[in-house]
Amino acid sequence: MTERPGSSTREDGTVSWGDLIEEAESRLRRAGLDAPAIDARRIVEEVSGFDGARLTVERSSLVTQRAMARYDDLVARRAQGEPLQYVLGHWAFRTLDLMVDPRVLIPRPETEMIVDLVSTRIDELASRHPDRSRFTVVDLGTGSGAIALAIASERTDVEVWATDRSVDALAVARANLAGIGRAAARVRLAEGQWFAALDDGLRGRLDVVVSNPPYVTDDDPLPAEVERWEPAGALRAGRDGLDDLIVIVSDAPRWLASGGYLVVELDPRQSARVAAMMNDAGFVDVRIVADLVGRDRFVSGQFPAG
Ligand SMILES: C[S@@+](CC[C@H](N)C(=O)[O-])C[C@H]1O[C@@H](n2cnc3c(N)ncnc32)[C@H](O)[C@@H]1O
Repeated sequence: MTERPGSSTREDGTVSWGDLIEEAESRLRRAGLDAPAIDARRIVEEVSGFDGARLTVERSSLVTQRAMARYDDLVARRAQGEPLQYVLGHWAFRTLDLMVDPRVLIPRPETEMIVDLVSTRIDELASRHPDRSRFTVVDLGTGSGAIALAIASERTDVEVWATDRSVDALAVARANLAGIGRAAARVRLAEGQWFAALDDGLRGRLDVVVSNPPYVTDDDPLPAEVERWEPAGALRAGRDGLDDLIVIVSDAPRWLASGGYLVVELDPRQSARVAAMMNDAGFVDVRIVADLVGRDRFVSGQFPAG
């Protein structure tokens, strides 16, 4: 049981989880945050260890001293504008619960969809090559490992390379790799610039290359929270945001196996140009794919037999 001087303490000196939710919401509202009620609840879920429904049942249970110290720290960090995902230290991506901190981009909901696109392309390869039981997938610029680890844990027929030029990001990806169980044996991490991170022996042997590279233009304003907390090297890519996409599209043909696929995420304003770049680079079946709210977020193409 915890006694706590301050607004959330009752007359008998005790504090319940419900008191903390209310106190956190009012502190976060005073700090000017957009969704104080949701953030407050997520923070109290985190420190209590109770998920949504259970927290409702436990609303009047008393808070422990240890939980109170952590609660204060998390609410203070959120009140200063640190993204909720970093404050909690982990975030859901498809079936995974990934560790995230300011060394990596927070995985976005739309990126979950690129995993489906990659999986569909592997299904297409598998139907053309019924004799094959393994496909090699590379996730360029893996950050937290989100795309690579989701693919590896959702399919048993893949070997996945996850690359990044950021040693810090790879440290987070390595921690997340340790959390995916047996699928981890089929994932390798590699440090370096785009394809240069890979062993030369993989040239011409990749079945799918997937990437969510930096694509924000140098001039586009970003939300203050993103600008301040998320790694700049994960976001911006030159005057038109295409610097990294150009390298990936132009180098991919040297690395893809015949009939292999390139799948990239981008800003909807870039989709037509990147599709044209892929056609010019010799890709066929180039498709622009919309996300769940109808924005042209992905481009995919197949590299034909030489
Ligand atoms: C937009 S983030 C994507 C992170 C993760 N794949 C995701 O979808 O959440 C881009 C990633 O590319 C990495 N990156 C940026 N430039 C790179 C380069 N030249 N070579 C390799 N990786 C790079 C960044 O460090 C960052 O982790």
